[in-house]
Amino acid sequence: MNDFTYWAPTKYVFGRDAENRVGQLACEFGGKKVLLVYGGGSVVRSGLLERVKSALDLSGIEYMEMGGIHPNPTDDRVYEGIDIVRSNGIDMLIAVGGGSVIDTAKGIACGAPYEGDFWDFYCGKKIVDKALPVGVVLTIPAAGSEGSGNSVITKLDGLIKLSLRTEHWLRPRFSVMNPELTFTLPPYQTACGIVDMMAHIFERYFTNTPDCEVTDRVAEGVLKSIIAEGHKVIDNPVDYEARANVMWAATLAHNGVCGTGRVEDWSSHFIEHELSAVYDVAHGAGLAVVVPAWMRYVAERNVGRVAQFARRVMDVTAADDRTAALEGIERLRSFYHGIGMPLSFTELGIEQPDIPRLVEKLHEHKGNPIGNYVKLGPEDTDAIYRLMY
Ligand code: NZQ
Ligand code: ZN
Repeated sequence: MNDFTYWAPTKYVFGRDAENRVGQLACEFGGKKVLLVYGGGSVVRSGLLERVKSALDLSGIEYMEMGGIHPNPTDDRVYEGIDIVRSNGIDMLIAVGGGSVIDTAKGIACGAPYEGDFWDFYCGKKIVDKALPVGVVLTIPAAGSEGSGNSVITKLDGLIKLSLRTEHWLRPRFSVMNPELTFTLPPYQTACGIVDMMAHIFERYFTNTPDCEVTDRVAEGVLKSIIAEGHKVIDNPVDYEARANVMWAATLAHNGVCGTGRVEDWSSHFIEHELSAVYDVAHGAGLAVVVPAWMRYVAERNVGRVAQFARRVMDVTAADDRTAALEGIERLRSFYHGIGMPLSFTELGIEQPDIPRLVEKLHEHKGNPIGNYVKLGPEDTDAIYRLMY
C-alpha cells in the first residue's frame, strides 16, 4: 500500500426531509447570500426548489438563482455565474441537482475569486488555492460530485471536456442527500448513474499497486451492493431502502475512499469524456459502452485484476485467469444490458463515430500515454474505440 493523505471534509446530511436543513447548514458554513444553481427543470417540477428556498428564508439567507444547466455542462454558464457572483456579493454556491449542476457551481466557486480565466484551472495552467464554499442538495446518485473535489466542464470552443481535480478546495462543505428526491428519476437516468458509480470504483480498483486488501474489499463490497440494489431500483423506483443504498454507494464510489493507498487509472473516463463532449451522450451511457471494451483490451495485457474482479464481484468460478476475466466482463455487460444500458456505438445513438478525431482529441488533451493499469497510446485507444461497434 502506498502512502496517502485523505482529506474529505464534507458534512453529509442523509435521509428523509434532509433538504429542510439547508438554511441551517448554509449558516453553519458562513453563507449570507447564496447563488442557487439548478438544471433544466426537474427540481422546479418536483417542488424541491421551493422547499430549498423556504428553508433559506427561514434562516434569513438571501439568494439569487441560476437555472437551466444542461447535462454535460459548458463553460458559458460558468462565466455567467462568475459575473452574477461578482456583481452581487454572493458568498456561497448551493447546487440543487446532479453532477452537471454541482460541477457548474464548483467552476463558479473557484473562478469567482480568481482574477484570470477560470479555464486555467481545468487545463492545468493554475492550481486552485481558494474557492467560495459550495453546498449541495443531491437529486441523482451518479457522478459522485457531492463528495468529490472534482468538477468536469466542457469548453464549447473545441468541445474540450476536462476534469479539474482538487484535494479539498472543491469538496462541498455540505451535501444534503434525501433518497426520496431520486424517486422521480427516469429508469434511463437511474441506470446511467449506476454505471457511472461502478466506473468510479473500477478506475481505482484496476491498479498495479499491491497489498491494498482493505481498499479492495471496500471496493468489491460497494460494487456488489450496487449490482444488487441497482436491480431493485430499476424494478421499483420508489423502494426507499434500495434508493438509499444506491445513493450512498455513489458517494463512497467517488469520495476517494476506494482509491486510498494506490495508483488510480482513469482511462475509461478519459475515453468516455470524448464521446460525451463530441456526441453529447449521457456520461453513464457512454461508460456502459466504454468500460467493457476497455476491460476486454486490458485483460489481454494484464489479466490479474480483471480475473480478481470477475471472481470476487461477478462470482465467476473458472480456474484459468483469462477465462474468468472474459466471463466476468460478459456478466458485467449482461448486467448493463439488463438495466437498459447501451452496449455499442449504435445503441448509444452514434451511427458513424469519427474514431481518428476522438483519438486525436483524447491524447491532445489527456496526454500520451493515458491510464496506469495498462498504459495506452493512440494505437491502443483506437483499438478500444473499435471494440465498441
Ligand atoms: O436538468 P434537470 O431537469 O434537473 O434533469 C436532470 C438531467 O436531465 C435529470 N435529473 C436529475 N435529478 C433528477 C432528474 N430527473 C428527475 N428526477 C430527479 N431527481 O437527470 C439528468 C442528468 O443530470 P446530470 O446532472 O447531468 O447527471 P449526473 O449526475 O450523471 O452528472 C453528469 C455530469 O457529471 C460529470 C459527467 O461527465 C457529466 O458531465 N462527472 C462529474 C464528476 C465529478 N465532478 O466528480 C465525476 C464523473 O465521473 C463525471 O465525469
Ligand atoms: Zn464518471
